[in-house]
Amino acid sequence: MDAKLMAETARAMVAPGKGLLAADESAGTAKKRFDTVNVESTEENRRAYREMLFTTPGLPDFVSGVILFDETLRQKTKDGVNFAEYLKKNGILPGIKVDAGAQDMALHPGEKVSEGLDKLAARMDEYFKMGARFAKWRAVITIGAGIPTQACIDANAHALARYSAICQEASIVPIVEPEVLLDGDHSAETSEAVHFRTLEALFHELACQDVSLEHLILKASMCVSGKANARQAGVAEVAERTLRVLKRTVSAALPGVVFLSGGQTDENATAHLDAMNRMGAPWPLTFSYSRALQAVALKAWRGQAGNVAAAQKAFHHRARMNSLAARGQWNANLEKAAA
Ligand code: 13P
Repeated sequence: MDAKLMAETARAMVAPGKGLLAADESAGTAKKRFDTVNVESTEENRRAYREMLFTTPGLPDFVSGVILFDETLRQKTKDGVNFAEYLKKNGILPGIKVDAGAQDMALHPGEKVSEGLDKLAARMDEYFKMGARFAKWRAVITIGAGIPTQACIDANAHALARYSAICQEASIVPIVEPEVLLDGDHSAETSEAVHFRTLEALFHELACQDVSLEHLILKASMCVSGKANARQAGVAEVAERTLRVLKRTVSAALPGVVFLSGGQTDENATAHLDAMNRMGAPWPLTFSYSRALQAVALKAWRGQAGNVAAAQKAFHHRARMNSLAARGQWNANLEKAAA
């Protein structure tokens, strides 16, 4: 275990004005995304799409690291350079998603628990050799009638802590991602309460399992209203609720907190991050978005080599907007100027 390396990795991940690109969609999720633009989800199309993202000119100004899926870590640019090597040469850290997905939790209808701990230590050593310097494990917490149960919150917290310990033994910085879903008709207040229970359980488990908080990044969801709720909390309310619950539950020893976009609109994901950074927090706060960074690029690309430049331009814009938000320097007029 190389604590110095992990400290350097974590610091670089949340460097001022930089954040993460989550490009770790599993084959199933990639198919769902490609279906929306009528592109077949073949291995080559996924490779070409990721190459378009990773080779975007200027990306290293905004992006400190990319979360990859196992398949992508093994793929190369069309010039034959491993993606991990290509990213590293450009000052971007490669990371790897290692959970095997959220599966139905036995005896708990409507709830999920993430799997993937079996033989994870051996896989982690291989990932380190392949260049990965951080990892991600996503747990899913669903809000509904009578859920989440404490059993679901605890099972996921336990797995996140076990995964984190395995990462750190391999000198890989763990990102812990307990995503509270925005599906449902709950209020932002309920979301905040569920975040509190989820994060409190997680940090209790991390402490129980001796995980080093100095070498761990939290990937948090935001306290937004459920998608089906008629009253949608505004930007300031979401930012206040999210910061409050983080301050109440997350150790100040953490090197940083990154956020997922979770199905928010592109502009909301950026506005919320910006608002939180203007309010100020004990940690660097930045983005680790998939959809809120990629959606416009995917739409512009549509599987056509001739669209690569337009797709990269759209992607560059979202990366720049979120970089400004990570500094608390974004405003909506910047979006209009680009439109
Ligand atoms: P979204 O930003 O699309 O929520 O994805 C982030 C992520 O990595 C989910 O695990």
